[in-house]
Amino acid sequence: MKIALGCDHGGFGLKQEIAAVLKDCDCEVVDYGCYSSDSVDYPDIAAAVCKAVAGGECERGILICGTGIGISIAANRHPGIRAALCSEPFSAQMSREHNDANVLCLGGRVIGGALALQIVDVWLKTEFSGGRHLRRIQMLD
Ligand code: RB5
Repeated sequence: MKIALGCDHGGFGLKQEIAAVLKDCDCEVVDYGCYSSDSVDYPDIAAAVCKAVAGGECERGILICGTGIGISIAANRHPGIRAALCSEPFSAQMSREHNDANVLCLGGRVIGGALALQIVDVWLKTEFSGGRHLRRIQMLD
């Protein structure tokens, strides 16, 4: 799986932790920045990752800002993007099964690295259930 990864300065540390782990997984990661803890604007990073996902270059995206809120709001303004802000694994699982979320958002100042990695793991492994949920996500576009 090809994954687009992005963060602002509030999510930079967590993005680095996630990138380090995904490097050893059976997936390809494209890092859309930011590349330091210097201040950047999360809508720009969300746009780059969402363009890659909506355009089909990457299958899924992971976005991180300080709370995950701003970057999830920004991501969900892009057509074809279903971004889910998750702070625990159950929501991450359901965001895949019921919502076919194609972007996962995390708060780098909200959750720690170990929990974030559990969330990422379940989110990447869980498939969309389809059925009645397909009709509902089709109503979103
Ligand atoms: C940046 O300071 C912070 O506002 C941002 O990372 C995010 O939390 C916004 O929702």
